[in-house]
Amino acid sequence: MSTRALLVTGGGGVGKTTLAAALGVAAARRGVRTLVVTVDPAKRLADALGAASLGTEPQPLEDEPNLWAAMLDASASWEAIARRHADPAAADRLIANPFFHAATTQFPASQSYAAAEEAVTFIDARAWELVVVDTPPAAGGIEFFTAPKAITDLVGGRLLRWMTGGNLPGRRFLFDRTARPVLRIAGTVLGTQLLDQIAQFFMDLRTTYDGVRRRAKEIEAHLRRAHTVVVTTADPTPLREAVRFFRELPDVARRPEAVVFNRTLPESWIDADPGGLPEPLASNLRRWAAEAHRQQELRAEFASRYDTRLAVVPWQPEPPTDLDALERLVKASEDLEELLSAPWA
Ligand SMILES: Nc1ncnc2c1ncn2[C@@H]1O[C@H](COP(=O)(O)OP(=O)(O)OP(=O)(O)O)[C@@H](O)[C@H]1O
Ligand SMILES: [Mg+2]
Repeated sequence: MSTRALLVTGGGGVGKTTLAAALGVAAARRGVRTLVVTVDPAKRLADALGAASLGTEPQPLEDEPNLWAAMLDASASWEAIARRHADPAAADRLIANPFFHAATTQFPASQSYAAAEEAVTFIDARAWELVVVDTPPAAGGIEFFTAPKAITDLVGGRLLRWMTGGNLPGRRFLFDRTARPVLRIAGTVLGTQLLDQIAQFFMDLRTTYDGVRRRAKEIEAHLRRAHTVVVTTADPTPLREAVRFFRELPDVARRPEAVVFNRTLPESWIDADPGGLPEPLASNLRRWAAEAHRQQELRAEFASRYDTRLAVVPWQPEPPTDLDALERLVKASEDLEELLSAPWA
């Protein structure tokens, strides 16, 4: 079965998880065998996706014959990565090491890498026609695509090579002259046990380099083929993230299929007439009309400046959290419907 991947990316809090689920439900209900991979969904959304059994293993949804869901867990993915790329003893040490835990759960690039690694595993499984991938909030949009390189650089980085690498005499000299005194001071402050853990962490991490580098290349190749939608709202911060996909697209990402403007105010509000409404309702209506107008102009400018397809998704009065509401979100947006009918889908 040939599998297409759709990555739903964008800045924090814009509706990536919601839209990934919505697109997944809508595709499944059109008869496409679909897996939705979500990251940290809100509780009610997780429930709708079968929270009780929702884990890193894809599960079929009850009464939804074409829909599977999986939830990413960066810690679990990194354990699997360590087991795949380090020898068993080093993997055990890494997993037990608090620095491994901190590095893999706190760094945005680690979360993105885990998500990408997991997504690629599902794409390679060839068990679904469509894999819709939600991306982690910490990543910002574009970092998802640069994470494999960031991780390779981290694991094989110059600093790490220098600290843990071979036996060049110069290195030992440098280590004694520069690092050791610093470490000695750090040791009195932090305790030597902690330093041992740090050193062990770097040494064990280093052994995973060849495996991680090879896998990162495979992941990059998959990301390069995957289709992408960038989600934003009309707010400056997520818009800046969306713009980066057109100004500084890394060579591992395709041009986005569409930019989704989520939580959009209806255009019909622009001409809303306060008529005989009393204050403060009348000025409230005028304010919302002005905001709806601002959003419309901003979208038009975005589309013409970056020559991209837009998908406008209306602001719903209730957060869409059950499967029917998610499907309605797609149906309320002609653009999303079209996107799902596009030749690639
Ligand atoms: N079109 C919409 N109308 C109304 N509410 C929405 C809409 N889209 C998303 N929401 C709500 O906005 C909130 C944020 O959505 P969501 O969690 O999907 O964003 P996210 O981009 O995944 O966030 P994060 O970056 O934190 O992962 C949720 O409460 C969600 O229900
Ligand atoms: Mg999310």
